Amino acid sequence: METNPQEQENTYVLNPEDATEMVRLSHQDHLLTRDLGGVFPGGPDLSAMRDILDIACGPGGWVLDVAHEYPKARVVGLDISRKMTSYARAQAQSQGLDNVRFFVMNALQPLKFPDNSFDLVNARLMCGFVPKDVWPSLLQECMRIVRPGGIIRLTETDGGGLSNSPAGETLDGMLARAVHLSGKGLSRTGKSLGLIPVLARLLHNAGCVNVQQRPHLINFSVGSESYEACYQNATVSYQLLKPFLIKMGITTPQEFDQLYQQMQIEMLSEDFCGMWLLLSAWGQKPAAATQGA
Ligand SMILES: C[S@@+](CC[C@H](N)C(=O)[O-])C[C@H]1O[C@@H](n2cnc3c(N)ncnc32)[C@H](O)[C@@H]1O
Repeated sequence: METNPQEQENTYVLNPEDATEMVRLSHQDHLLTRDLGGVFPGGPDLSAMRDILDIACGPGGWVLDVAHEYPKARVVGLDISRKMTSYARAQAQSQGLDNVRFFVMNALQPLKFPDNSFDLVNARLMCGFVPKDVWPSLLQECMRIVRPGGIIRLTETDGGGLSNSPAGETLDGMLARAVHLSGKGLSRTGKSLGLIPVLARLLHNAGCVNVQQRPHLINFSVGSESYEACYQNATVSYQLLKPFLIKMGITTPQEFDQLYQQMQIEMLSEDFCGMWLLLSAWGQKPAAATQGA
């Protein structure tokens, strides 16, 4: 089931084989699962689900949490990164989990699973690698591999969060523009990533029924529980994103360095306030679904 990432074009805004990105995603996963209220907040009980897939699972934090909480489930994670899937496998082994599997796989190509394989297909934060026009076909693939009555669930954000840091706002705007110019995100203007407003519509258009949404707001103002983790996430993310922003012609190294330093100073100031908005949307494959309904 393995594919060779070297033979594939990387569409991710960052290098999926970068160890720093892997560690960042691991920390971000802890923050998100805690602050979003668990592995499937607000959704139906997962205990009846036997086969669960996480697309673009990164270092596998969500998959491992689900496997712990639901030992009767068989949980699968796929990611294009060889490094992250190896790390995830090692974590599963050291935690004594035998109900998980991780595959190196490109989510932008036909998924190497038979029709009707999973009760739940989950994907969190795919905006950074899915080209604009590919969302419908990717969701059709999800519909193909999920069982009738099963669930597809997407969680996305509209950037690094809203804040009273002018430099943070500027960098966030630059990121949205760069993502837009690279043919990703679903904004028509490039002023945002554009996923949140249309997430439920994507599921509906793919043929899902009973589509539901749940917003999540993470307070990362000074003094909040998530402040430190979000500060670290922002500083590491933007350092990693610097080459992408420069490559897309959005900024220069000098301008970036100045903004980056300013963002750190503003985030460390005692009146810093920030809110990170995410949205989960999920829908069900109709019990008697026809492909591409
Ligand atoms: C922002 S991270 C999200 C990771 C994880 N879902 C989470 O929420 O913690 C995006 C992930 O997509 C993976 N990725 C990038 N391009 C991919 C592709 N074409 N197919 C599968 N995974 C890909 C990256 O390696 C990275 O792990």
